[in-house]
Amino acid sequence: MSLQQQITQEFKRRLDAPPAFLVRAPGRVNLIGEHTDYNDGFVLPMAINRAIWIALRPRDDRRVVVHSLHFDQTAEFSLTELRHQDAGWIEYLKGVAWSLQEAGHALRGWEGVLTGDVPVGAGLSSSAALELATTRAFAAVSNLSWEPGTMARLGQRAEREWVGMNCGIMDQMISAAGQAEHALLIDCRSLETQPVPLPPGTVVVILDTGTRRGLVGSAYNERRAQCEAAARFFDVPALRDVSVAQLEAQAGGLDALIRRRARHVVTENERTLRAAEAMRRGDAVEMGRLMDASHASLRDDYQVSSDQLNAMVHCARQGDGCYGARMTGAGFGGCAVALVRAAAADAFAKAVAACYQGVTGIIPAIYVCQATNGAELIRQEHS
Ligand code: GLA
Repeated sequence: MSLQQQITQEFKRRLDAPPAFLVRAPGRVNLIGEHTDYNDGFVLPMAINRAIWIALRPRDDRRVVVHSLHFDQTAEFSLTELRHQDAGWIEYLKGVAWSLQEAGHALRGWEGVLTGDVPVGAGLSSSAALELATTRAFAAVSNLSWEPGTMARLGQRAEREWVGMNCGIMDQMISAAGQAEHALLIDCRSLETQPVPLPPGTVVVILDTGTRRGLVGSAYNERRAQCEAAARFFDVPALRDVSVAQLEAQAGGLDALIRRRARHVVTENERTLRAAEAMRRGDAVEMGRLMDASHASLRDDYQVSSDQLNAMVHCARQGDGCYGARMTGAGFGGCAVALVRAAAADAFAKAVAACYQGVTGIIPAIYVCQATNGAELIRQEHS
């Protein structure tokens, strides 16, 4: 049974009627452009065929009552008195309600059922998917118009100011604006997006190391601060405004560690733009080469990889049909991503799993994935 069927059935069982609305918002994998979003730079993620789903109907009062199938737990809150309570999944929904209300939207209450198949904490943006699915749910019951960039910014605000993770815009933006069969080149300053098709005959394979990022919050904030220091040195609003030539000519005066951080961001922006061009040309070889270079830069200059991520990338590159591989997401654990010849994908997945288990003793999860649309309203029944 699909998640859509399961959630519809569960809604009917619990609420004695079919849902008025069904919404979904996908997780994501980033092909290239890592740690560039908070530097106003470029990213090239794709929305994946793993998503958060909510089946719902409006309520006449201002309460939100949700049952999570994953946690087998019902939680609720009032839109009139939003208060932080704990760190659980419901805080993401409250954060979205808070952010939408702060932006002046008049919200209605609703009740429903929530489920999903984005692995939690794996670096595939289950949080952003939950935020955008919730935003879609409120948009459906409260008749809000849907503009992906605006809604992504409101989801990001929920994550930063309610949940307390100082993230960039990539995850919410791709969950809001993804396009089937394409990755999306996102300019994180203007939020302009360009769909970019995968090279013909290739697939994207997600390689989950089975390790979860530990101190990612503090390391992430430290990297952000280092990037801001570098931008001040170059006297620009963000590292997006520094070219590779300028970096080479002027970085001599920078502290050595900050210089490496800046070098990652500046070169990664250039690689991301080149990657989008390579994909448009259908040049899988060049795309793979850029992914490999991105990994080296994240490992050596930005220092956000881990032994397990390096082992996974190493195993992936040994695999037949692999054009390139890199860590993806914030780092320190979670997933790597590889671009692979479609016909070789199943054998590739088996070989990489065996190699990785041999090196680390951990059984990895491997997903050959498809690019999907961003957050959407699937069905609306008129009663
Ligand atoms: C996390 C953040 C994103 C982005 C990536 C690194 O996923 O949520 O905003 O900064 O890390 O590229």
